[in-house]
Amino acid sequence: MERFKILFVCVAIIVSCTSRTPQNKSTGTISEHAMVSSAHPLASAIGLEIMKNGGNAIDAAIATHFALAVVYPQAGNIGGGGFAVIRMNDGTASSLDFREKAPALSNREMYLDSDGQLNDQQWSTHGHMASCVPGAVDGMFALHQKYGILPMAELIEPSIEIAQKGYALTALSAELLNTKQKEFRKHNRWSTPYQSDQKWQAGDTITQPDLAQTLKHIQTNGRNGFYEGIVADQIVAEMQSGDGLISSIDLKNYQSVWRKPITGNYRGHQIISMAPPSSGGVALIQLLQGTESYPIAAWGHNSTKTIHLMTELQRRVYADRATYLGDPDFVFVPVNDLLDSRYNQQRYANIPFDKATPSSLVLAGEIPPSESPETTHLSVVDADGNAVAITTTLNSSFGNKVMVKGAGFFLNNEMDDFSSKPGSPNQFGLIGGEANAIAPHKRMLSSMTPTIVTYKDQLKMVVGTPGGSTIITSVYQTLLNVIDHGMGMQEAVNAKRVHHQWYPDEIRVETDALTMSVQTDLEQLGHQLRMIDKIGRMDCILVLPDGRLEGGADPRGDNAALGY
Ligand code: DON
Repeated sequence: MERFKILFVCVAIIVSCTSRTPQNKSTGTISEHAMVSSAHPLASAIGLEIMKNGGNAIDAAIATHFALAVVYPQAGNIGGGGFAVIRMNDGTASSLDFREKAPALSNREMYLDSDGQLNDQQWSTHGHMASCVPGAVDGMFALHQKYGILPMAELIEPSIEIAQKGYALTALSAELLNTKQKEFRKHNRWSTPYQSDQKWQAGDTITQPDLAQTLKHIQTNGRNGFYEGIVADQIVAEMQSGDGLISSIDLKNYQSVWRKPITGNYRGHQIISMAPPSSGGVALIQLLQGTESYPIAAWGHNSTKTIHLMTELQRRVYADRATYLGDPDFVFVPVNDLLDSRYNQQRYANIPFDKATPSSLVLAGEIPPSESPETTHLSVVDADGNAVAITTTLNSSFGNKVMVKGAGFFLNNEMDDFSSKPGSPNQFGLIGGEANAIAPHKRMLSSMTPTIVTYKDQLKMVVGTPGGSTIITSVYQTLLNVIDHGMGMQEAVNAKRVHHQWYPDEIRVETDALTMSVQTDLEQLGHQLRMIDKIGRMDCILVLPDGRLEGGADPRGDNAALGY
């Protein structure tokens, strides 16, 4: 594995050179053949190296995903789950659901007190009871089995090496870790590699021998190296040390699921995105359907009229999300009805342009009766034009903050994505209903929206982001930025964003997203505005008209698009 020793030196150099994408850079990394865009330059470099060594986009995405589990532990993971959307160069598209599942011992009242009210113990977000059965490792093996070219052992090897030898913290990671020390101490019975009595600084090195060992078990024993044997025993022991519910049977039985992607059209483009249990694909296409009949390019990017329209669409779409979306293996999700253009035309017909509609007046649409709800994203395109979009998560930053003792990885707190009490908001302020109530083995509703766009049957964009409830609207705006507002990929990613999600009834506005006069106009229409620092961290790739690739790596993080 000499090659990876060399890679290790190279990525160290890359980190020191490109750990920050310039804030106002309007053209991203351009490459001739292939590209990886992810939340961390080391992870992007590993994926890129895999493609240079003969791997395809799926191999690169798998290697990048494992690498993020090592160098981006706030969201990169083997203890969480996610979704992958794939489009091969022959035009075939597929999507993999490797979302976590509720443990068999979970139940719908588990976070309620004796009065039926949500308790204030933060059990759905912090500590052992917040964790669901992880799907990430099974997902990587399922992807590899269907599409991989290089041996899985080769895709995991660079991550083992970095876990063993250590990696240098960026300034942003050090800052984030310093804010989490109290929670790490509260939720772990031992000192994890991410704890320190001194403040972490940029350049400090973190080694993770336990995680390296876990990755070796996976490398040697495949999927079962995680879901059975010593690693599974360590997870179960961790659960038992703190009221966690995941059992060895839950782990053994976990299986990711291939699902038919959600598809739709927008101004001649085909959109390929994730189906339930993600709400992302359905909501994105509902939003695009509502936008298509309006000349938002002429109205202007982030103008009063454009923002007003987007807000009115968003509050309606998120109301539908709260009512109808959930795990399709458990509840009927009326996908076809929600994507029906007549339904959406009717749903949007009453949008007033002279005033904001209070969210309290917006209910979910009427669906006709029928037979029968910290993350990270990576985008990859290889030299043959195969494309993968993966959004993967532990839910909150560092998940439930619990690192599995001996195994060295953080667990998710995905139980909070269920609606613990229908009608009450979760940590993202999202309201959910019956369709997303907790049930054993069920998958919790997601907003993750890994998306691929084609134009005239040719690959055009690979897009995605973290951001909880803001994921859908960040992907939506990025597509509009390129398709309607004529931006390049990096420019579209850099552009400031806004967000509305029905409740709370407010437009979240990134600093400098709107001019003072647009803000005043929107307030006069009756919109409430709330300024916030950052929305999303996109990792995107655009195929330029001459066939080259432009990466869009979000300057809001350490994100890096690397290509050759
Ligand atoms: O699946 C979801 O929608 C959430 N668990 C995503 C969480 C997230 O994006 C947090 N990152 N900022």
